[in-house]
This record gives sequence, structure tokens and C-alpha cells, in this order.
Amino acid sequence: MITALPAARVPDPRDAPTMRWGIVGPGWIAERFARSLRRFTDQQVTAVASRSLDRAQAFAGRTGIDTAYGSYDELYASDAVDIVYVATPHTEHRSCALGAIARGKHVLVEKPLALDAAGATDIADAAARAGVFAGEAMWTRFLPKFDVIDSVLSSGMLGRVDTVIADHGEHFGPDHRIFDPTLAGGPLLDLGTYVISLAYTVLGPPATVSAVGLPANDEINGQISALLTAESGAHAVLTTTMTSTTPTTASLCGTEATLHVPGPFFMPGPFTVTAHSGASVTYDEAPGLQVDGLHYAAVDASRAIADGRLQSSVHPLADAVGTLAVLDELRTQVGIEFPVSR
Ligand SMILES: NC(=O)c1ccc[n+]([C@@H]2O[C@H](COP(=O)([O-])OP(=O)(O)OC[C@H]3O[C@@H](n4cnc5c(N)ncnc54)[C@H](OP(=O)(O)O)[C@@H]3O)[C@@H](O)[C@H]2O)c1
Repeated sequence: MITALPAARVPDPRDAPTMRWGIVGPGWIAERFARSLRRFTDQQVTAVASRSLDRAQAFAGRTGIDTAYGSYDELYASDAVDIVYVATPHTEHRSCALGAIARGKHVLVEKPLALDAAGATDIADAAARAGVFAGEAMWTRFLPKFDVIDSVLSSGMLGRVDTVIADHGEHFGPDHRIFDPTLAGGPLLDLGTYVISLAYTVLGPPATVSAVGLPANDEINGQISALLTAESGAHAVLTTTMTSTTPTTASLCGTEATLHVPGPFFMPGPFTVTAHSGASVTYDEAPGLQVDGLHYAAVDASRAIADGRLQSSVHPLADAVGTLAVLDELRTQVGIEFPVSR
């Protein structure tokens, strides 16, 4: 029976303890992260570091940050930083996270946590040894709408979920870093990680994985479609591409009802639960962009640090490592080799 949806349990982002953030890799996502923190939280972004002092100063000027460094190491050593947000390309996540951890800093690393499960495990192990927080900024998991989806799933409202269908396809021009093989380009780590993470969260670690790929050109994969089966026997049917724009929807289909998230499913926005009778209930939220949601992952980290926890309870490191293990298997099956592992 379809009743009203539970309320989101996500606390007010402004109530989170204030941490002093340092940003490394002042690119596209870093700017949205800095603006999201400024607009929606009491977190302080105290420093930014680039491989070039000019770029760090330009970013600091645009986003109102006091201190700009011309090397990442200077930021890791700064006494004015509690936690480092790693916003470099995937290939650099492991080395940046390990560099910050070695200086005793907490780390929140953009998705994916590393290039592969082994690199992610290195980060998790180093953080545990150093007694600092480490987390993957898989921002979708921290959005209020996904907290409500968690409640819907645990309430049994959908019945037994036998089918998960999700896609993330976005058309990129050939000048974008996603076309660069030396930066582990291709859709898998930028876009595919969202659909694999969703399936992993809903169905748990897969029992079987099968995948097919389609090259974008003679250098790089452009598209992957995957079928995962869960221990329960449930199926996840997933696809990701960087050569075309797809609906970017997600459907969690149960024996009692179907939960449908319109595209883009990984951003703030509404979803609907519809019973087989046709009765439905909608989570009503205005569609939003990264700037409207990145801060939820940040304040989750701040709360964990203030509580003395070394990882998120919403998105534990095991989920980030487990998702990467699935991505590793997909790559093996499709024949994608990353030329670099740093
Ligand atoms: N959550 C989301 O919605 C979302 C959206 C987009 C991207 N991301 C993630 O965020 C990460 C960064 O993506 P982005 O789109 O922001 O990338 P970007 O615009 O290219 O920015 C990355 C920055 O990293 C620095 N960098 C360090 N080593 C580099 C290298 N070897 N090559 C190029 N740049 C290097 C560069 O800054 P300096 O040279 O100035 O230091 C660059 O500005 C990726 O892992 C991606 O998956 C997340």
C-alpha cells in the first residue's frame, strides 16, 4: 500500500561543526564545491592549491579564498587546513589523498575514490593508520532525496526489488579531459560510477558481472553496458556513454511498487513511487545542480570528524572500494587498460 513518503533525516547543513577546508585541483568541480559550501554552510574554505600559483590565485579571487598556494604540498602542510578536498582528475586522487594524509589531514576525495579498488584500499588503510577521516565525495548518496529513497527501501514499500535500471550518458566534445587516455578517460569513472554505485547501494555487492563496450575512437572506450546480478538473483541493467546524451533516469522496480527517479537521477530533484494499482506518491523537490548539493557530502565529513569517526556512516569506504572493484571487473571484461596508476 502506498502511503505518504517519510521525511528526509538529513540535518541542517548549517548545524554542522565548522571545519577549515583546503582545495587541491582548482578546476570545474572544485569551483562548484567552494560555491556550494559558501552558499549553504558555515564551513570555511581557507586555502586553495594549484600546480601553478597564478591559477590558485585566480581561483582564490573568484571564490573568496584567503590563501593560494602554487603547490599541493604547501597546502598539505598548512596549519590553516583541517581537511583537504581532492578535486584533481581520477589519476591523481590516490597520490593527493596519500600526500594529505601523510601530513595528518583529513581527506574528502572526489569520485571515484581512486583509479581502482587497490588504490582506494591504499587510501583507506593510510587514513586508518594515521587516525584521520577519509571519504569519497559521491555527492548523490548524501542528498536528502537519497535519504528518503533509503527509507522507502527499508520500509518495504517497494516489496522485493528484482530490477534496477539506470543510465548515465552525457555527450562530451573531444577536447574534454574525458577523451584523454592518460587521465583514465572514458565514461566509466566519470559517469558509470554513479550507476554502479546506485546498484551497489540497492542490491549489495554483485554475484555476477557481465559487460560489453563500444570504443569512442581508436584510443578510448566510449560506452559500456552492464548486467549485474545480486546474491538475491535480482538484476541491475546499467549503461554509460560519453558520446551521446541518455535519459539519465533510475528505476528501482519491486514486487509491490516501482520507484522512478527522472533524469538526472544523481542530482537534486523529485522521484515517484507508483504501486501496481496505479496509486502513486511523489517526493517533490526542485531540480538542482552540483552547486545545490555538493555541500551535503562536506558537512557529513565535518560531523564525522567532530564525532571522532574516521569515515562516513552514509557512504562508508567499503562501498567506495566495492564499487571500484565492480568497475575493475567491467574494465577487465571490456579490455580497458589505464596507462597510468599513480
Ligand atoms: N561530483 C560531480 O558532479 C563531479 C563533476 C565533475 C567531475 N567530478 C570529479 O572531479 C574530478 C575533477 O574533475 P573536473 O571536471 O573538475 O576536472 P578539471 O576541470 O580538469 O579540474 C581538475 C584540476 O586538477 C588539477 N590537476 C592536477 N593534476 C592534473 C593533471 N595531471 N592533468 C590535469 N589537471 C590536473 C588541475 O588544476 P591545477 O593544474 O591548477 O592544479 C585541474 O584544474 C574528477 O575525478 C571527476 O570524476 C565530479
